[in-house]
This record gives sequence, structure tokens and C-alpha cells, in this order.
Amino acid sequence: VRPTEMILSEKAGSKQNVGLIKLNRPKALNALCDQLMKELSQTLDEMDKDEKIGAIVITGSERAFAAGADIKEMIPLEYPNTFLGGFLEHWTKVTEVRKPVVAAVNGFALGGGCELALMCDIIYAGDKAQFGQPEINIGTIPGAGGSQRLARVVGKSLTMEMVLTGNRITAQEAKDAGIVSKVFPADQVVNEAIKLGEKIAEQSPLITAMAKEVVNRAYETTLSEGLKVERRMFHSTFATKDRKEGMTAFSEKRTPKWSSK
Ligand code: CAA
Repeated sequence: VRPTEMILSEKAGSKQNVGLIKLNRPKALNALCDQLMKELSQTLDEMDKDEKIGAIVITGSERAFAAGADIKEMIPLEYPNTFLGGFLEHWTKVTEVRKPVVAAVNGFALGGGCELALMCDIIYAGDKAQFGQPEINIGTIPGAGGSQRLARVVGKSLTMEMVLTGNRITAQEAKDAGIVSKVFPADQVVNEAIKLGEKIAEQSPLITAMAKEVVNRAYETTLSEGLKVERRMFHSTFATKDRKEGMTAFSEKRTPKWSSK
């Protein structure tokens, strides 16, 4: 994978089947400027197309996952160009990746950094991680899901508290609230995320993509519609060779061999 200026990327795991993306703008605590987000989108796109990669991990440094959108870059912006230029619209690329994306968060995950983590499918956090939506302190509000994705995950009261005060929450509080699925010592979180990616990458890529798509529907639609989509997708697995192979391998007490067909 090609190295870029603000992103480091490599293949990780014993089978080199996990795409590891490290946000690498240390002097600005990984503030998510336009260039960084473009490089991130491009790298995600490449990893999504790479058949050898089964899952993707996004991380930052031990000090900062990302301290938000780039405030200095935003200072000169005016309403007409944010509106007409669709400012921040291209950030949603992160949610369009078909492969599972794990955020391994250490240090600050603030504003756009918290929102970027929330766009991922799973969040692992280091014990010193801090999550927050501090936009109110700089005269603006969350613009990449901090009022919407966060509310769907943690509910109204905590979202309001975070968005209205800018107060940060700890990794443990984020776990208790359901933002994070597991907390690890800071120096272990990336390795744990890679191990998780390796486990996911062992499964059928085809069925994995279907599973990811249906879980994400739960955040987009009503329960009855979501249940219909789930059932149809479940039925769809019966049109695949991998479904037959998985069930046959179970009955023959052997490991399945996936073909993504
Ligand atoms: N944008 C641009 N630069 C940033 C930045 C950001 N979001 N966050 C940190 N930096 C830069 C600082 O300007 C500083 O650079 P200089 O030395 O050149 O001045 C460098 O990173 C180190 O930062 P600090 O000296 O401030 O480090 P600290 O340890 O004292 O504080 C911090 C760390 C609490 C994270 C503090 O930097 C901070 O509050 N950052 C801003 C957090 C924030 O408001 N994020 C929301 C941005 S708006 C947004 O994200 C909108 C959206 O919804 C998409």
C-alpha cells in the first residue's frame, strides 16, 4: 500500500489480511484537514478493493486519535462556500466501506475525531482515551454526525450534555455508554484491534459484507423495515456457496473453506 503524507498504511496481522491505517499528522494532533480526509478516503477505497484485506483498522497516535476538524482551516470559511462546496460531505466515505472498519482510539477523540470513530463499525479504546464534542467552545456545533450518530448510540441525555458543554468522557464512560466495545491498556489497543480484524478476516468476505450492511440498517430505518431487510439478506445467504460450505463444514466437523461465492 502506497504511503501518503498524512496517512501511514500497511498490511498487518500474521496473514497480512488486515489493512492498518494510521493518521499521521502529529504536530496538529491529527486534526482532520481536507488533505488528511482525502488521503483517508483514497486509502479506504484502495483497501476496500484489495481482495487480500478482510478488515480495516484506523488508529492515530497514543496522544491523539484525532482532535477534530482542522480549526485553522475553517477560520476563513463562509456560509456560501461551505454550503455550495458541501463542506465535510465527503467524510461519509468512511461509512461506505463494505469491509468492517475498526477504530483503535488512544488519546483525544474530539469533535470530528469522535465523529470519525463513530463512523467506524467497532470502537476499541485505550484506557486514557477521551471522547468529546467540544465544538460549542469554538462557536459551532458538530458537523459530521456528533449530534446524530452519537444520539443513536448513547441516547439524548449524554449527547446533549456532551454537545452543550463540550465536556469530555473517559474511555470507561464511553464503554459504559455503548460507544466503545472494549477498553485496553493504551499500548495494546492497536494490537487488539488487529487481532479482532484478523478474526473477522477469517470469515467469508461475502457474508461479512452482508452482515455489516444489515447491522448498519438498524441505524437508518424503522424496526419493521430493518427486520424485513435482515430477513431478505438472511435469505440471500442461501444463494451463496459459502452458506452451504459453512453448514456442511459444521456437520463434517471441519473448518470451512470460503470462496466468496
Ligand atoms: N485543528 C487544528 N489544529 C489543532 C486542533 C484542531 N482541531 N487541535 C489541536 N491542534 C493543534 C494546536 O493548534 C497546536 O498547534 P500549534 O502548536 O501549531 O498551535 C497542536 O495541535 C497541539 O495542540 P495544543 O497545544 O492545544 O495541545 P494541548 O495538549 O494543550 O491540548 C487539545 C490538546 C485539548 C486537544 C486542544 O488542542 C484542543 O482543544 N483542540 C481542539 C479540539 C476541538 O475543538 N475539536 C473540534 C474541532 S471542530 C469540529 O471537529 C467540527 C466537526 O464537527 C467536524
